[in-house]
Amino acid sequence: MSHVFVTRSLEEVRFWCRMMKEHALLIRYGFTGDQRQQIQEADRCFYVFEEIEERLYQFNERAEPEMMVRFNMEIYQAASNLWGFTRKVLSYSLSRKLITHHYPLFIDHMSRETAYFMNRIELLNKGTFEILRETVITENIFYLRLMADHAKFFGHMIDPSERELTSQASDFSFQFDQLLLSAVDLESMRPYSQKTSILERFIAENRNAVISFKEYKQTVRELAHKGRIRGNLHPAFAAQMAREADYCLTFLDACDHVIHLPPGPENQALSESSSSSSSPPPV
Ligand SMILES: [Fe+2]
Repeated sequence: MSHVFVTRSLEEVRFWCRMMKEHALLIRYGFTGDQRQQIQEADRCFYVFEEIEERLYQFNERAEPEMMVRFNMEIYQAASNLWGFTRKVLSYSLSRKLITHHYPLFIDHMSRETAYFMNRIELLNKGTFEILRETVITENIFYLRLMADHAKFFGHMIDPSERELTSQASDFSFQFDQLLLSAVDLESMRPYSQKTSILERFIAENRNAVISFKEYKQTVRELAHKGRIRGNLHPAFAAQMAREADYCLTFLDACDHVIHLPPGPENQALSESSSSSSSPPPV
């Protein structure tokens, strides 16, 4: 534990905290003017993560691990509040108590990402930094579902008159739904589906799809940034989609790395906790 823990924590929480801040911003824009209570709650979440982000950039790799553990716990609490807020909005939306400009799937998507981030913080504070071979398929399911959702969001937020872009979004939606179903199949075939040759192909197919989708997302981001796209796409949303594709590719690289490690109990769980007794306490 120590500097590796601090470095990995900073890498991950910086990425996710920016996402959390943008989620609060995006969810805020989906409320109608008279939904003041919800707007205030979204604003509160936004400012909490904005403040956390500023403090995160004052941290560096030489920070005391204990300080990082405490900060991670604070971030976990802020994420938990945001998660609770999104679940409440989802509940109101599905029961038609609250009619917003957001689709329930969009709210659910944000709350899934928040829950994933909370889980990542827990793992970091327990000293587990790397993906485990036995969770490669499950985590791919999580990311493929995100990509499939993104494609659907593009399809709904880009104006139907943008025929080429909406048609491409629809193709990506189908492609990622198919990949997601294949991943679910492999999940139920575990542990036999965890052979390196099977996982190699699985990861390669997912990577190819994400690379193409990333190019599409970058095009949309550019168009949104220059105000050259028809639709109700917020530029922050378009930019976030592109960053998530990049993050997903980094995740797939990590999967590729772990499946090629030689077999052995020490490589089943790539955590520093297995080689150090000074791991920080769990969140
Ligand atoms: Fe997302």
